[in-house]
Amino acid sequence: MLEYTGDKNGNNVPDIEEIGIIQLNGDGDFRSEESIEILKQADIVVTNPPFSLFREYVIQLIEYEKDFLIIGHQNAITYKEIFPLIKENKIWLGYGFKRNMAHFINKHYEDYATDADHKEGMIRVSGVQWYTNLDISKRHEKMILYKSYNSEEYPQYENYDAIEVSKTKEIPMDYKGAMGVPVTFMNKYNPEQFEIIGMGEDNGIGHSGGLWKGGSKSCLYNSKAAYKRIFIRNREL
Ligand SMILES: C[S@@+](CC[C@H](N)C(=O)[O-])C[C@H]1O[C@@H](n2cnc3c(N)ncnc32)[C@H](O)[C@@H]1O
Repeated sequence: MLEYTGDKNGNNVPDIEEIGIIQLNGDGDFRSEESIEILKQADIVVTNPPFSLFREYVIQLIEYEKDFLIIGHQNAITYKEIFPLIKENKIWLGYGFKRNMAHFINKHYEDYATDADHKEGMIRVSGVQWYTNLDISKRHEKMILYKSYNSEEYPQYENYDAIEVSKTKEIPMDYKGAMGVPVTFMNKYNPEQFEIIGMGEDNGIGHSGGLWKGGSKSCLYNSKAAYKRIFIRNREL
């Protein structure tokens, strides 16, 4: 653990000599008692936890009521442990990486990124997002909707009581009922504008917000399965 207790030599910079290194007794696992004691002292947690332990990590942060800004994969939005927290407005997406692509300083792995995405000495990781519970202005910005509803462009699902909206920017401005939108909608989500009702592919045990009519778990329209969908409703209609 590194401990910085403030500037000592008056240059207003945290110099290496001013940072104390404190050896931990254990291995630093975030679930250990020792780490939890350190967590309790924290005002805010900013980190990049291992993706494989993302669920457990978030649950711990919520349990200890911490403010946080952490990196996770986009797929975590629909995890059965994470989605309810998103739905209840306890966690949301922060300002993203450009095109959901992060570059991490890397000395161990070969970077396979195509030329335009390659950055020297760095590895590219796709589909990553910031997850946070800090209030940010993006969350209060309303999406400007410009399309009108019509049943040809926005078919009803065969197995959920909702319409298919394939592109977030094409959410119709005049549809009052439940709409299935891509997971990337979460980047534009403003809880004053939209309510999150549920999601598709939830095994039919609760997360669909009661919209599921049985059958396939994927949202079907014109007998085609859509990618994962989140169900929303416009609060302003
Ligand atoms: C994605 S890396 C991020 C490393 C660093 N925070 C950064 O941003 O460059 C995840 C880190 O979590 C560590 N880690 C894995 N399991 C852990 C656990 N159970 N408790 C604490 N750290 C763990 C890994 O060793 C790894 O260093």
